[in-house]
Amino acid sequence: MRTFAVTGAASGIGAATTERLRADGHRVVTIDRADADVVADLSTPAGRSSAVAGVREVTDVLHGVVPCAGVAGGTGGDGALVASVNYFGTVEVVESLRPLLAAADSASVVVVSSNSVECQPGWSRELAALIADGDEPAARAAAAATEAVHVYPASKSALRTWVRRNAPAWAADGVRLNAVAPGLVETAMATVMRADPELGVFVDAYPSAIGRPGRPEEVAAAIVWLLSDEASLVVGTTLVIDGGTDALLNP
Ligand code: NAI
Repeated sequence: MRTFAVTGAASGIGAATTERLRADGHRVVTIDRADADVVADLSTPAGRSSAVAGVREVTDVLHGVVPCAGVAGGTGGDGALVASVNYFGTVEVVESLRPLLAAADSASVVVVSSNSVECQPGWSRELAALIADGDEPAARAAAAATEAVHVYPASKSALRTWVRRNAPAWAADGVRLNAVAPGLVETAMATVMRADPELGVFVDAYPSAIGRPGRPEEVAAAIVWLLSDEASLVVGTTLVIDGGTDALLNP
């Protein structure tokens, strides 16, 4: 039995990952805004600190962390919130839990990016670089001045940058860092995106080689594999798991 922490565990991909890990006999400490072992709002530094404190109360070792908590960037959405939850709510929590991961013989972190990095046009690499620089007030100011729909892929690209920059040093501590990049997955987030007055029509316009959106348990299966020792050679990479959308759009 291993011990994992999953954020955004109350819904969608986080819930499916939690269910799968528990079914495999592991212990999972769940974190979310509600319906979780540790209730915390990861949009703020204070909320992240309380999330980490909550995890530390119940364990001093972690074999893996899966930071799934994230928000979509819809019409009229709050770009600063998208940057704070998706990037800082991931990176700050994972970095704070590093000592618990290093305490395990081997550990693995699977960050949840998105194939919007490859497949969504019009977002700014400069914004992604600014977010990845890690200055949250500066990133929030730039994100607030950007349409939230374009902050989303920038935040998810910044996550990959964080993985690339940190994977070598963390691997030396026995902690593998990787990312998954799902395409459209049928979760509460997909429902929110479809309901968007301007962008909703585009949600199902993305082609998929398999002719359907993903299911959360399909993403969870890839995450669970990356968490496992079977993926012991996989370090610092991003696994696009999108039913072939990226392959179709970027042949
Ligand atoms: P979801 O909406 O079903 O679950 C997201 C979870 O994150 C919710 O339980 C929510 O309460 C939690 N969360 C949001 N803001 C939070 C905050 N401030 N503090 C704590 N928890 C918070 O969405 P889904 O689809 O399961 O998303 C999981 C991850 O997958 C997200 O990072 C999302 O960006 C990513 N993703 C989703 C795709 C999709 O099509 N559904 C596609 C690509 C990536």
